[in-house]
Amino acid sequence: MNTKWTKHSLYRTVREKLGSRLFVVVSNREPYVHTMSGGAISSYRPVGGLTQALDPVLRAAGGIWVAHGGGDADKLVVDKHNRVRVPPEKPEYTLRRTWLTRKEIEGFYLGFSNEALWPLCHIAFTPPVFREADWQYYRKVNGIFARAVMEEVGDKPAVVFIQDYHLALLAQMLKGQNPNLIVGQFWHIPWPPPEVFRTCPWAAEILEGLLGNDLLGFHTRESCDNFLETAQSLGARVYKKQSAITYQQHTVQVQPFPISVDFTEIAAGAKSRSVIREMARLRRELHLGDKWVGIGMDRLDYTKGIPERLLALRRFFADNPDYRGKVVFIQAGMPSRTEIESYRAIDHEIEELVRDINQRYGTGSWQPVIPLSGQQSPAALAALHRIADFCVVSSRHDGMNLVAKEYAAARTDNNGVLILSRFTGAAEELSQAIIINPFDVAGFARAIKEAIEMPAAEKRRRIRAMRKTIAENNIYRWGADIVSYLIALAEG
Ligand code: G6P
Repeated sequence: MNTKWTKHSLYRTVREKLGSRLFVVVSNREPYVHTMSGGAISSYRPVGGLTQALDPVLRAAGGIWVAHGGGDADKLVVDKHNRVRVPPEKPEYTLRRTWLTRKEIEGFYLGFSNEALWPLCHIAFTPPVFREADWQYYRKVNGIFARAVMEEVGDKPAVVFIQDYHLALLAQMLKGQNPNLIVGQFWHIPWPPPEVFRTCPWAAEILEGLLGNDLLGFHTRESCDNFLETAQSLGARVYKKQSAITYQQHTVQVQPFPISVDFTEIAAGAKSRSVIREMARLRRELHLGDKWVGIGMDRLDYTKGIPERLLALRRFFADNPDYRGKVVFIQAGMPSRTEIESYRAIDHEIEELVRDINQRYGTGSWQPVIPLSGQQSPAALAALHRIADFCVVSSRHDGMNLVAKEYAAARTDNNGVLILSRFTGAAEELSQAIIINPFDVAGFARAIKEAIEMPAAEKRRRIRAMRKTIAENNIYRWGADIVSYLIALAEG
């Protein structure tokens, strides 16, 4: 068994299997955004698991990444074919940008992708909003992506690897234009049970679009099974044992591929000088002293269970007066999709809860919850991982959750406790975390106490086991597994 996948072994495997085929990744969000500030162009990497995870794969495999150019300087750096080489500081692959109008972004991205499909697929109790006009834009924009991919691919033999819920119709469109293409898609969010999915007025069209793939990947077996059942309930022929579906003489394999992180890079980064400097700065500026430190760090999204986490913390301080003054919780939130009302609402709810806890229990010399808003530098995020005695991931529902894996990977000192929601894909692999139900306030509060009081040897045992799992099942392995599977399918 291959235990340590590296960028190098992924590169070799993928190049060998790809042969002369072109490798194309397609996603809505781009891996590098160019912006203008003070007359100078700079670039940054957006937050979110998808781009973080796929970038190392593309860097290893080379090829082309097709994505929406959303940065205000994106148009200034592309050539006449809308291409730019990235990473900007050390180019390893080509980013091909597509352009969308404001109306298209509203209907396709904010509307159908994030107000309909996102809440539909996450059981987070935020109802989806299905607008006919958004759906029309969704179809139109999937068509825009299809044209961009076909321009890149031409009649070359190619493997197209589509990402996520923004592009559910793309595989079918591409196959319609060139049936010889090898097309796979990874759905980075959960797939809900059929009873939920069929509430979407365009459930059948979305399903048909996805059935155009040769391979469809999810993080967990549970999502795969939900998808098979959804396909069956909508009339496709399902082979449960083979985890395959046949529809209009075409077969798609449905398989789990749990995504991961670049373990080696995170571990090396966590020990770097800049991170150690950041740790000292944060300890000083946040007055952490010798207190127990907990952290939560998320994209500000209602699926992440941040209010549930704060309610549990409040309950913990209520039930354990001895710990008042001795525990500090840092909540770092990265703003996300702020134009959508439900996202603004969660932001306010979090602010209110933080204020409530700090007013209730805080003293002149102690602030129980410290909110950190805005983008943090990668060094600051790594420093927070290293400082935290415990890290809380309390999603109501989450495809995988890479924060959980990043935290364990960063703990090169084999210290620290992970409190992890059972409703994340990560909970399947990281069973040595303290597994919680975020909706069970009392149980969650007890888990916080358990994390703080866990004996050092037990912490070491658990974090070591989790780190071993992540080191073996790293992002390179995910990339190699999914790409190898896809190519093997095509070769029959
Ligand atoms: C999740 C989704 C990704 C998305 C990311 C950030 O991880 O699965 O597709 O890119 O969130 O969200 P955003 O809407 O900013 O791209």
